[in-house]
Amino acid sequence: MTRSNIALEPVLQSVAVIPVLIIDDVATAVPLARALVAGGLKVLEITLRTEAALEATKAIIDQVEGAITGLGTVLNAGQMKQAETIGAAFMVSPGGSPALLDAADDCSVPLLPGAATAGEAMTLLERGYGLQKFFPAEQAGGVPYLKSLSSPLAGIRFCPTGGVSPDNAGSYLSLPNVICVGGSWVAPADAVKSGDWARIEDLARTAAALKKGAAT
Ligand code: 3PG
Repeated sequence: MTRSNIALEPVLQSVAVIPVLIIDDVATAVPLARALVAGGLKVLEITLRTEAALEATKAIIDQVEGAITGLGTVLNAGQMKQAETIGAAFMVSPGGSPALLDAADDCSVPLLPGAATAGEAMTLLERGYGLQKFFPAEQAGGVPYLKSLSSPLAGIRFCPTGGVSPDNAGSYLSLPNVICVGGSWVAPADAVKSGDWARIEDLARTAAALKKGAAT
């Protein structure tokens, strides 16, 4: 069975950068998300890596106007059910195991699965996934690797994530097979901890101004 995630195209197309958020304290979730949205980054990924992640995601979904909120680090069917239950707009996985893709076939929330090699990307494409996360982007070969996939795998567009930074984001975004990038740099842990929402809004504004398809 194949399941297209083409429904995600307008969501990913609408932004240059998706903040990847690791939220330890539920109390920071809503002000953090408001700062990012105010800076122009409205598509948010909250990783399921902390005790607070689900409650934090639900709080953002319920309280942050304009945010399009997804769950990241989704690794199994149970977590897909949680994403469905809280009303997540999308799910992100670091890879795409057969069991995970089977579970996604039965889930109403669109999935952005990860690939790090041509073979993994082809496996996902065979299952219907024309939109994929390239992860871990820098460690897997970075811009030159992804560029070399653009001609043979022209039917796939990627969201590179992992080691993406203000220094290299523009190079990724200039590639024809990159729809947007993901990264944690727009929400530094120290700024979140100290509640420096103005700094986060500034970082978001700079990231939101990055252009796609521009030569760097
Ligand atoms: C992650 O796994 O945490 C994401 O890919 C974000 O990576 P980054 O912290 O390198 O941006």
